[in-house]
Amino acid sequence: MQPLIAPSILAADITQLGQEVDDVIAAGADVIHFDVMDNHYVPNLSFGPSLLAALRQNGLSAPVDVHLMTAPADRLVEEFIDVGANMISVHPEACVHIHRTVNRIREAGLQAGVALNPGTSLSAVDPLLESIDYVLIMSVNPGFGGQKFIPTALDRARTMRETLDVRGFTDTRIEMDGGIGVGNIRSAAEAGVDFFVAGSAIYGVACTHPTRRDDYAEVIETLRAEVAAR
Ligand code: DX5
Ligand code: ZN
Repeated sequence: MQPLIAPSILAADITQLGQEVDDVIAAGADVIHFDVMDNHYVPNLSFGPSLLAALRQNGLSAPVDVHLMTAPADRLVEEFIDVGANMISVHPEACVHIHRTVNRIREAGLQAGVALNPGTSLSAVDPLLESIDYVLIMSVNPGFGGQKFIPTALDRARTMRETLDVRGFTDTRIEMDGGIGVGNIRSAAEAGVDFFVAGSAIYGVACTHPTRRDDYAEVIETLRAEVAAR
């Protein structure tokens, strides 16, 4: 599977978001990762569907991966479907009927994912494998950008990849989210991850070039080269 690089706009300059998403896409990113936090399921508050609607209105055409860290999730799933999300992941702890939720995401023509926190058993996705397109293995506890990578996520990805392959879900992707950067993305790729979220590693790069876009291209190329070297 072609590896996907997904910058998280949580780490972008929020006063320039339209430019920030355009710049990472022009710099070679595949997908925009859109972290939705509600100060309830996670101890932080970010943004909602109106921001995605505004970015679409502003001309954003790239795929958008919505990571819903909200409880409940279902009403926001509907709203994100309406404003042009392409992929939505939900956490089992935040959904009363997660089987219904992921099936609804797919019925609407989007890709569905299930996000597993570092303390959540991998078996939580077992009954859902037929209904999803990707498993999101969290490599930090959700809620904040810029946290330290939790290395046990690597073994969890390896186990998940084996389970997916043994059970015939060879096209199901593994996304990893939290603390990923140039120094550890290769280990994630070796563990079977093919969909990489990076917030601060991309948007936090020092501006050594005349435009941020050049900085982003350099870091995205380096991330890709690390993945290719696995
Ligand atoms: C954490 C979020 C992540 C995070 C990634 O709750 O889901 O997407 O913003 O940011 P970094 O790469 O800075 O850890
Ligand atoms: Zn995320």
